[in-house]
Amino acid sequence: MPAFANQQTYDLFAPEALANSYPLYKRMRSEDPVHYCESAGYWILTRYRDVEAALHDERLSSDRTALYINQLGSLDVKELQNFLAFTSNMMVDKDPPEHTRLRKLAKQGFTTRAIESWRSIIENTTDRLLDQVQNHGGMDVVSDLSVPLPGFILPEIFGVPETDRVHLLEWAMDIVKIFGAPGGSNIEIEELARKADKAAAQVSALIRQLVEQRRRQPGTDMISLLSVAYQEQGFNFEELPSVCIQILNAGMLTTTDLIANAVNALLSHPDQLQKLKKNPTLINSAVEEILRFDTSVPFFFRIAKQDLTIGGKEIVAGSVIALGLGAANHDPEKFEEPEVFDITRTPNEHLGFSSGIHFCLGAVLARMELTICLTTLLRRLPNLSFDPDQQAIPTKHSILIFKGFDSLPVKF
Ligand code: HEM
Repeated sequence: MPAFANQQTYDLFAPEALANSYPLYKRMRSEDPVHYCESAGYWILTRYRDVEAALHDERLSSDRTALYINQLGSLDVKELQNFLAFTSNMMVDKDPPEHTRLRKLAKQGFTTRAIESWRSIIENTTDRLLDQVQNHGGMDVVSDLSVPLPGFILPEIFGVPETDRVHLLEWAMDIVKIFGAPGGSNIEIEELARKADKAAAQVSALIRQLVEQRRRQPGTDMISLLSVAYQEQGFNFEELPSVCIQILNAGMLTTTDLIANAVNALLSHPDQLQKLKKNPTLINSAVEEILRFDTSVPFFFRIAKQDLTIGGKEIVAGSVIALGLGAANHDPEKFEEPEVFDITRTPNEHLGFSSGIHFCLGAVLARMELTICLTTLLRRLPNLSFDPDQQAIPTKHSILIFKGFDSLPVKF
């Protein structure tokens, strides 16, 4: 572990940093852009050029198994065996050539025809959710909209029977929370691990059952598309539940948090909100600016496969490196006036969806969800504003990887 005299400390978990991390990222970027965090035990990159280079660096691995095990502390690794069994087939944790193979297959679930069929699912779900609150004069964006939206959309895309959908959502949330845990100080890691492990076993059983069913009777849903692709390639069906769960999980909390961040950004910048209302064709560039300005995935981890140097700092093999996607998106060397929220910003080469071989596979779906959700929201609730009588609550579960809100009350 490197030791530095007079090392600066930066508390990413301090309440003010959880509420607004960007001033802290700015300080880190200017004082120590390749920072070793002694307490967390990993490196943190905050400059765009370092983060982007790291995302393309073959000397860095995405295999984070050791990280999941480390964070268990004294807890027996057996407590996490179901979870580890399915992460062992998750493309986001793989390097080439295994990653290349898994990703190529998973892409079969994202055909142009499939993507087009999702549009009406998203529109209908958004309308249904807004119907339920339209006459109430207010809602919590999180519990009334951003949690249920991907929660209804993804199971429908996957063709999960209605009776299983509520369980699936609970399990997916239990699983995803363990990904955000590295370095968290006040986290109940044992409870998180047990819940994630139990959920992994339950979700695997359900998906396995659906795969069996779709192999016999294929439809147009994602599980059917992936089953056909596996059949054609002659691959082992045992890994298919992991592929499905990976897609389901990756698309759940990320979208929930992004929708809340989007509403927060627009309501906090009334001039930009007015601009969008006046000219709805700006929605595509507004979505990109939201992904830059306040992404729901501010960090992603890599592991050094060999000794290497970044920004003049020597990093030894096996070190964990947190790539600051959110910090990079606010780097003034890359973005003019990065703290300004400008829905017409162009170019906007943000790293909200990462870059390189792990570039978000669900980016098309995520963009579609955000575009339809925001357009519908502004059309149906034109007087949307923060609720002055209730406080917004930034996420407590977001330990580094995820950033959003636990509650975002609005009026209309
Ligand atoms: C809504 C906002 C979303 C954000 C901000 C986001 C962000 C990201 C990021 C940063 C990565 C790369 C991780 C890395 O570099 O290792 C990633 C990967 C991935 N995302 Fe997303 N994502 C979002 C939505 C979705 C959705 C809706 C889906 C699918 C339903 C999805 C599926 C995936 C998958 C499968 C990967 C792994 C790709 C690979 O390892 O090759 N994401 N996402």
